[in-house]
Amino acid sequence: MPSPILVLNGPNLNLLGTREPGHYGRETLADLANLCAASARELGLETEFRQTNHEGELIDWIHGARGRCAGILINPGAWTHTSVAIRDALVACELPVIEVHLSNVYKREPFRHLSFVSAVAVGVICGLGSQGYRAALAHFQQLLQEVAA
Ligand code: DQA
Repeated sequence: MPSPILVLNGPNLNLLGTREPGHYGRETLADLANLCAASARELGLETEFRQTNHEGELIDWIHGARGRCAGILINPGAWTHTSVAIRDALVACELPVIEVHLSNVYKREPFRHLSFVSAVAVGVICGLGSQGYRAALAHFQQLLQEVAA
C-alpha cells in the first residue's frame, strides 16, 4: 500500500457550495472530495481527505502524517493568514507540502496576501477553484516518481 497524500481543509470549507459562491463557486466539500478521489485514482495515488473547524485538530492530523504520509495538500482557509502553529507543525512533519486556495487571494483583501504557510511549501496554487487540488495532486505524483527513480 503506497503512503497516502493527506488532503487537509481548514475552517468554513464545510460550507462550500453555499458560502460566498462568487469567491468559492457552487461545488460542495463532498464534490471536492469526489474530485480528489477521482484524480487520485487516475494518478495512481492514495489520498485521505479531511476538513475541520478546529485548529488543534488540524495540527494533530499534521503530526499524525509524519512518517506515515507521502505529502500534505493543505487549504488552511483563514488560518493561512494567522497561524504560526500550523506553519510550525508543517515544518515539524518533514513532508512536502502544497498550499492550495480556491480563490485568487491576491485579488482580494490585503490581509489575505500574507500566508504563514507559503514559505514552507513546495508551491502554492490559488484561483483555479477545485482544479487547483487536481493540479497539486498531479505535482505530488511527479514528486513521488522522482523520489522512486
Ligand atoms: C481560501 C482563502 C482564504 O483567504 C479564506 O479565508 C478561505 C478560503 C480559499 O480557498 O480561497 O477560507 O483558503
